[in-house]
Amino acid sequence: MSSLLPFVFLSLLVSPSLAATITQASQLKTKTFDYIIVGAGNAGLVVANRLTEDPKVTVLVLEAGVSDEGVIPVQVPFLGPTVTPNTPWDWNYTITAQPGMNGRSFPYPRGKLLGGSSSANYLFHQFGTDEDWNRLASVSGDQGWTWNNMKKYVQKHEKFVPPVDGHNTTGQFIPSLHGFNGEVSVSLPGFNQTLDSLVLEATTQLPEFPFNEDTSGGDHSLLGIGFLQSSAGKGSRSSSSTSYLANANGRPNLTVLINATVLKLVQTGNGPAGKAFRNIQFQSSPGTAANFHGGASAITTVTARKEVILSAGSVGTPQILQLSGIGDANDLKKFKIQSTINNPNVGENLSDHTFLPNIFSVQDNGQSFDHLMRDSSLVQDVLDQWMQNKTGLFADNIANNFGFARLPSNATIFKTVRDPAAGPKSPHWEIIITNLFFIPGQSIPATGSFLTIVAVLISPTSRGSIKIQSSNPLEQPAINPNYLTTDFDIFAMREAVGAIKRLASSPAMSKYVIGPFGDAFQKATTDAATEAYVRGLTSTIFHPVGTASMSTSKSNNGVVGPDLKVKGADGLRVIDASVFPFVPSCHTQGPVYLLAERASDIIKQQDRI
Ligand SMILES: Cc1cc2nc3c(=O)[nH]c(=O)nc-3n(C[C@H](O)[C@H](O)[C@H](O)COP(=O)(O)OP(=O)(O)OC[C@H]3O[C@@H](n4cnc5c(N)ncnc54)[C@H](O)[C@@H]3O)c2cc1C
Ligand SMILES: *[C@@H]1O[C@H](CO)[C@@H](O)[C@H](O)[C@H]1NC(C)=O
Ligand SMILES: *[C@@H]1O[C@H](CO)[C@@H](O)[C@H](O)[C@H]1NC(C)=O
Ligand SMILES: *[C@@H]1O[C@H](CO)[C@@H](O)[C@H](O)[C@H]1NC(C)=O
Ligand SMILES: *[C@@H]1O[C@H](CO)[C@@H](O)[C@H](O)[C@H]1NC(C)=O
Ligand SMILES: *[C@@H]1O[C@H](CO)[C@@H](O)[C@H](O)[C@H]1NC(C)=O
Ligand SMILES: *[C@@H]1O[C@H](CO)[C@@H](O)[C@H](O)[C@H]1NC(C)=O
Ligand SMILES: *[C@@H]1O[C@H](CO)[C@@H](O)[C@H](O)[C@H]1NC(C)=O
Ligand SMILES: *[C@@H]1O[C@H](CO)[C@@H](O)[C@H](O)[C@H]1NC(C)=O
Repeated sequence: MSSLLPFVFLSLLVSPSLAATITQASQLKTKTFDYIIVGAGNAGLVVANRLTEDPKVTVLVLEAGVSDEGVIPVQVPFLGPTVTPNTPWDWNYTITAQPGMNGRSFPYPRGKLLGGSSSANYLFHQFGTDEDWNRLASVSGDQGWTWNNMKKYVQKHEKFVPPVDGHNTTGQFIPSLHGFNGEVSVSLPGFNQTLDSLVLEATTQLPEFPFNEDTSGGDHSLLGIGFLQSSAGKGSRSSSSTSYLANANGRPNLTVLINATVLKLVQTGNGPAGKAFRNIQFQSSPGTAANFHGGASAITTVTARKEVILSAGSVGTPQILQLSGIGDANDLKKFKIQSTINNPNVGENLSDHTFLPNIFSVQDNGQSFDHLMRDSSLVQDVLDQWMQNKTGLFADNIANNFGFARLPSNATIFKTVRDPAAGPKSPHWEIIITNLFFIPGQSIPATGSFLTIVAVLISPTSRGSIKIQSSNPLEQPAINPNYLTTDFDIFAMREAVGAIKRLASSPAMSKYVIGPFGDAFQKATTDAATEAYVRGLTSTIFHPVGTASMSTSKSNNGVVGPDLKVKGADGLRVIDASVFPFVPSCHTQGPVYLLAERASDIIKQQDRI
């Protein structure tokens, strides 16, 4: 996919910023707001929209990144994988060398633009299982997080729309599970491929992969293979920026300042709940014009009358907390940062989903998209079609079919390890089927036709951390997901590889698949060789959570209580993926949207009292 980027850069459109979005601190009409939200990302823009529904409430959003307006790779669903890594829309992070991955290190993308990672992700859209939400309720001691209570937010959040090819979607999703009048557009695949019917046929042949009529989760099981639902409508990406922000942008009480990198929070005395942190320091983001001309950029301080809301994501939020003295006092001492709230849990318990792209050679009959990707004039045609009427391959996601599975209940690992899934109906791993050679960061080989069947570890038990490495807010923190460092994780990945091979050699798929591609995959026939293959190739599917974990209000574990207020602080909340103590059993944007919807309701309720 990286080879596609030169084409799409040529197609960058230049268009003005959104009306209500400002780019410099000097444009602020006031320095005091009721609420200040750090990060115009997936969660931050939901909260910005919901709080400004009340015209008496003023909100400032500070975002380090750029505008998403007119950025073609962000808009084209198929080009999701070209938005990162190492682009103007990415934080360009790299993780520490991973002991469970032969010491490898690799890019760790995070969206750095309006919409945050919802503008930079691959558009897969689900809500997690009911068991995920019920576990959150039990871990946090707040029944409000149960699925029974959370499902109403699907209606507020989701706007299910027809696929771009207008095909009859009966049997491909269950309408009663969805919202049709919410904010973010969601749609089924709109570009039919021969591969789809082979996958569907295979689900009738293999009992371990039944057909799943709806893959969004919640009340309906996620297990089985079905049609992908994507955060896209009318052939374009739908992010928190194109939906929640676009629909609130005209409100006079919402100010969004981009190019603003938050450095830290400053203590402003003591409040009823603990130390108050209502001042925020920021400067214009590195690399922006102000920095080039003025050398060290001026620091601006803004003040929240009511609350500061951290929505800087699973990396940015613990980083800002630590820079503000909220973290492990011993760690912070090393960087001469004054401890304000000593909480060793900040940045700990990082949990993420791993990604193993299993590459198969397939019949060279032109059906895999490798041929198209290698031919610049064909790519240009597909892009032209998208520009013309937003249809065709590029209007589609990179996969049409995907699904979830569990290890068999008699798997040997369960003799020694407690099942880490959210419950008996929740998946251990995920399967994604995409009709081309797809290894993030690697080019498609010069010849050959390929199918990639990805294995994702959905119920990982490995835990890592995010830790600042200096007192400089512009230096990236040490990101260590600590992947594949438990027996369970490596066992589940090995079993997933075996199951994927069974799918690929089903009668239906055998009509297309020739066999595993590459030495390590071909040799992966014993446990030891499969483990070596897994450790050598696995990377991430970018779902970090847990670094500002939610727990009961009384617990000393964790960083925030069930109402998402930071423990020991006053007027400070975290609303983003970092508060999930366990990574949900699916891609994480849907759960983040629902979390942010309820969090907004919690703020509105507490505010009234
Ligand atoms: C490449 C990629 C692919 C993904 N694919 C999928 C997918 O297909 N489906 C899915 O469901 N999920 C996917 N995810 C995960 C999903 O997008 C994230 O879990 C989710 O968007 C996180 O939301 P958030 O609000 O926690 O953080 P974000 O959306 O990342 O928002 C954080 C915001 O804070 C800003 N920020 C951070 N630090 C500062 C600072 N110091 N000052 C000012 N601003 C700051 C950031 O620039 C960003 O805009 C993917 C993620 C990535 C990166
Ligand atoms: C990331 O890398 C790209 C490409 O080199 C660059 O344009 C961008 O400014 C970098 N972003 C950051 C935050 O460093
Ligand atoms: C779609 O297909 C279903 C069943 O296959 C059928 O009942 C329904 O009438 C079709 N809808 C339209 C609009 O054609
Ligand atoms: C997709 O195409 C196949 C044939 O290639 C056809 O059988 C199937 O009905 C089509 N599906 C849709 C949803 O149009
Ligand atoms: C908020 O909007 C109201 C009208 O809706 C206006 O009177 C007030 O001045 C606005 N406040 C700010 C800070 O923009
Ligand atoms: C970011 O800010 C700088 C200076 O404040 C400005 O020159 C630049 O145009 C801004 N970038 C965008 C994308 O608005
Ligand atoms: C979109 O444009 C392409 C040509 O670029 C054409 O083949 C196709 O029929 C058009 N589709 C619609 C729905 O207009
Ligand atoms: C689990 O049970 C299935 C049949 O129910 C059997 O085929 C398989 O060998 C068993 N696996 C183990 C590890 O016992
Ligand atoms: C963090 O992880 C540790 C060990 O895995 C666990 O004991 C603790 O409860 C976790 N804390 C939170 C808040 O999830």
